[in-house]
Amino acid sequence: MMESAGLRGDYSKAGPDYAVEQEWGEYTPEEHATWDMLFNRQVAMLPGRVTPEFLQGLDILRLSKPGIPDFDELSERLMKATGWQVVAVPGLVPDDVFFDHLANRRFVSGNFIRKPHQLDYLQKPDVFHDVFGHVPLLANPVLADYMQAYGQGGQRAAAMGAIDRLSRLYWYTVEFGLVRSGDVLKLYGAGIVSSYTESVFALDDPSPNRLGFDLKRLMRTKYRIDDFQQNYFVIDSFEDLLNQTLHTDFGPLHTELQGQPDIEIETILPSDLVYTHGTQAYARGKDGLAPLKWRGIGSA
Ligand code: PHE
Ligand code: FE
Repeated sequence: MMESAGLRGDYSKAGPDYAVEQEWGEYTPEEHATWDMLFNRQVAMLPGRVTPEFLQGLDILRLSKPGIPDFDELSERLMKATGWQVVAVPGLVPDDVFFDHLANRRFVSGNFIRKPHQLDYLQKPDVFHDVFGHVPLLANPVLADYMQAYGQGGQRAAAMGAIDRLSRLYWYTVEFGLVRSGDVLKLYGAGIVSSYTESVFALDDPSPNRLGFDLKRLMRTKYRIDDFQQNYFVIDSFEDLLNQTLHTDFGPLHTELQGQPDIEIETILPSDLVYTHGTQAYARGKDGLAPLKWRGIGSA
């Protein structure tokens, strides 16, 4: 097998916008097979769990060649749908670079893919998370506008010293959001839908809290990046999300929230709309109090 680590994770070839060539021709058959396996596994399990808008956007990923999507071909299709492009980067990029790409309808994606022995745990977002998780909703005109506006809002928040609070909005919507459909909850966050184990945990496990979306409250709430979420926020609809974000002036909000204390992840407030009062058994299991029920599902 050819080792492609030379390019992946190598920032020396990146320009000031951190973009690199995807070098699609350098992927090994094993790397393409990893994509196909992850793709087929998610496509089989997501119907009924994921929001219909995501499934509608999935076809954009079915390109002329199997395996990891060729970003040139993908961008051409995405451009026709909503004016977005996918740009390869070697890994995480600084906030200002990320916001600038979003504000110009460019979504940055890692060009590397996880190793077969790490299918269910990711230290940093790879091409499967970035493309499978994010691109289907970028093909949706409403979410496409949300993402661009978020990039512009990020530039504004940066100027006001409010990036940390705005990042929570991204985390609890774009990455780990749930949406209500009648009485049932559905997935839409990219961090969930690109993860086999969290696609189950986020909806079915009694551990995490599931709370109604409340913008100010959410922007004060901490989150964890190292494991399943202890808390999910549920939006009523994409239209409602847009009304409260894209169509809301965050200037006064950033000022108001300045100096207000953070809210711990597990906290439930009297003002919260509670869908699930989580047991937090999974998170406590980390200290040996409960079994690690969901770890390894799918890879075991
Ligand atoms: N409307 C927000 C502002 O005035 C920016 C924003 C748009 C934030 C979309 C999130 C999503 O800064
Ligand atoms: Fe992501």
